[in-house]
Amino acid sequence: KFVNLMLVFVFLFSIVMTAGCGRNKDGVRRLKLSINTNQSQVDMAEAMQERIKELSDGKMEIDVYGDGQLGGDREVAETVQYGNIDMCIVSTTPVAAFYPDLNVFDAPFLFKDSAQAQEILDGKIGQEIAAGMEDIGFKVLGFPENGFRQLSTAAKEVHSPSDLKGLKVRVMESEVHIETWKALGASPTPMAFSELFTALQQKTVDGQDNPFVTDRDNRFYEVQKYIIETNHVYTPYLLLMSKDSYDKLTDEEKEIIEEAGAYGVSVQREKTAEYDKDAVQEMQDKGVTLISLTDEEKQQFRDAVSDIYSLVETKVEHPELFRKIL
Ligand code: PAF
Repeated sequence: KFVNLMLVFVFLFSIVMTAGCGRNKDGVRRLKLSINTNQSQVDMAEAMQERIKELSDGKMEIDVYGDGQLGGDREVAETVQYGNIDMCIVSTTPVAAFYPDLNVFDAPFLFKDSAQAQEILDGKIGQEIAAGMEDIGFKVLGFPENGFRQLSTAAKEVHSPSDLKGLKVRVMESEVHIETWKALGASPTPMAFSELFTALQQKTVDGQDNPFVTDRDNRFYEVQKYIIETNHVYTPYLLLMSKDSYDKLTDEEKEIIEEAGAYGVSVQREKTAEYDKDAVQEMQDKGVTLISLTDEEKQQFRDAVSDIYSLVETKVEHPELFRKIL
């Protein structure tokens, strides 16, 4: 075990030490990108790799580190902020710890559908957020689609907040998420994603929330029986680049990485929409029961969390930005 730990340490240490937007002897600019286990992130990384090679005539390349091997969302975002990894794809929620305005995306039932969310992210509000994040060391290259989060449980059929009483639900490490689940009557347990599968397997927690595709790609159907179509929050992904790494690029290289990023986001969004449908069917085939809610049941969820918006207003630095979205 000790030898294994040392090997992991040496591997991570060597990545960090050789970090940051280097040029090889042959003049090729290499950029490190960290992604997690989701297939749509793999597709996006491959699309970016191809496009960057094509646009730069092979003078720029992306080295992809998959399966979250460089760390969880929060750790990786921090490493990108300090320029030791060039790029990552992470959820907005953990990054709200560094940039509070991102808490707006943790507000439950904020968006009607993905199209509406994407319009806001690609418009003035997304640009405002991206401009603000430059001041804390991030260049935002786009907002890939994570999707709406759905509750899943090991044994409990949930139709309304009253069914959630005492249910231990793993949540992301965010006060807005914790308070949302408390308001719904559950017992929220904040936990790193890397610990989640084992926690579900060992029944330390009864359920969790993530988009369908994440549930499928992480095999949660092996340890969860019900998925409840709560659609309770849309937490987008961020394609982040270290501002330090970005500033080291020439003007032409900056244009190329921005174009490759935008292309990657468009491929990833298309793939996510496609996988979303497949994921539900595949999980049902493996024995998962999908519970859809009636309009009346949906309203009960909305009513239970109506006070969370005032919490979000206290968490963000620019409440007017939140009001603009509303
Ligand atoms: O549940 C989480 O922590 C996030 O949704 C995940 C899967 C790490 C993606 O950013």
